[in-house]
Amino acid sequence: YVSLGIGGSYLGIEATIKALTHTHFNALSREERGGAPEIYFLGQNMDPDFFRDTLDCLRGKRVGVNVISKSGTTTETAIAFRILRRLLEQSHGEAARELIFATTDERKGALRTLADQMGLQTFVVPDNIGGRFSVLSDVGLVGIAVAGIDIKEFVAGFAAMKRRTDGDDLWDNPAMLHAAARTLAYRRGKKVEVVATNSVALSNVARYMEQLFPESEGHGGKGLWVSPSVYSEKLHANGQMVQQGERNILETFLSLGAYDSAVEIPADPKDLDGLNYLPEADRDMAFINGLVVDGPAYAHFQGGVPNMTVTVPARNAYCLGQLYYMMERSVAISGTLLGHNPFIQPGAVAYKKAIFALAGKPGHEASAAEMKTEMASRGQVVVE
Ligand code: PA5
Repeated sequence: YVSLGIGGSYLGIEATIKALTHTHFNALSREERGGAPEIYFLGQNMDPDFFRDTLDCLRGKRVGVNVISKSGTTTETAIAFRILRRLLEQSHGEAARELIFATTDERKGALRTLADQMGLQTFVVPDNIGGRFSVLSDVGLVGIAVAGIDIKEFVAGFAAMKRRTDGDDLWDNPAMLHAAARTLAYRRGKKVEVVATNSVALSNVARYMEQLFPESEGHGGKGLWVSPSVYSEKLHANGQMVQQGERNILETFLSLGAYDSAVEIPADPKDLDGLNYLPEADRDMAFINGLVVDGPAYAHFQGGVPNMTVTVPARNAYCLGQLYYMMERSVAISGTLLGHNPFIQPGAVAYKKAIFALAGKPGHEASAAEMKTEMASRGQVVVE
């Protein structure tokens, strides 16, 4: 199953599947995957090596494609779709259309026209829902269901958090609390929010937040940058900056409460590394991983980094649905407090126009000439 899309038509789906399935999902047998197909993502970048390597994994397999684009005109998705469509048509002829779904606007856009002409099965991106808020619509639910994840539980999680965040009590409203803390920190000079998780499974959820917040908040010279991080890894990289660099950082921890696996730390008769105190006290890897949030939370706060911890009790669809709804609602509040509409992203269009001009798309000749002059005046560093 190949999911084609970018931004809101990609990140939430990948984040959910990675959060709730085996780390090496595609390497498992079909039986071990609970009957689900291997799942790949394309169209999220235009790197030919990545594209080719992914196509290599599809060789000799029966491939189904879901092309997802609300606008139906996004260049990366459209190019990826063109290539996959051609490959499917080469091997299946007319029957290729039975292996393709399109997820797009109900009535308008190039993808809608193409889907109708080809007679594809379609799913709908609702008109009033922006890409990064669409994981609860067909955009997210189809791919998530393909992975065998319980979408009823996912929806129930959203509904539960909606009920909880409808209330006015700040301390019992996680979305309001998260938005308030970020807004206050921003007003006091914090410019970067490190979203750090101690769960590799949740690392793509932090990446989803990297889109959700900056694409909604980054208007008019304002907004917090979101930096997704997996701890411990990053503690040995930019952790130095978080502790002692410029004091413009706040931190939100996504802490996983319970793991699917238990890994014991073995006792060692020689104890040269001095770790025997851990197994002697029945402390396993999950115990240490909990400290990978608590330790930095304490140390970074002492170092001048305000932080908060959002605990995700377990890796299940219900908890994740709650987290997504909380974050979507949080950014709706914080974006509005910044004084603009968080549901639009006019800035994301500028690069698209520049690419059209540089690629020679008809109708963009004037800006192409202007850009070529500007680009020619730039110095370049070439690694030889
Ligand atoms: O959140 C958004 O609106 C964007 O990130 C879009 O999802 C992204 O640009 C892809 O757009 P489309 O689905 O129209 O191809």
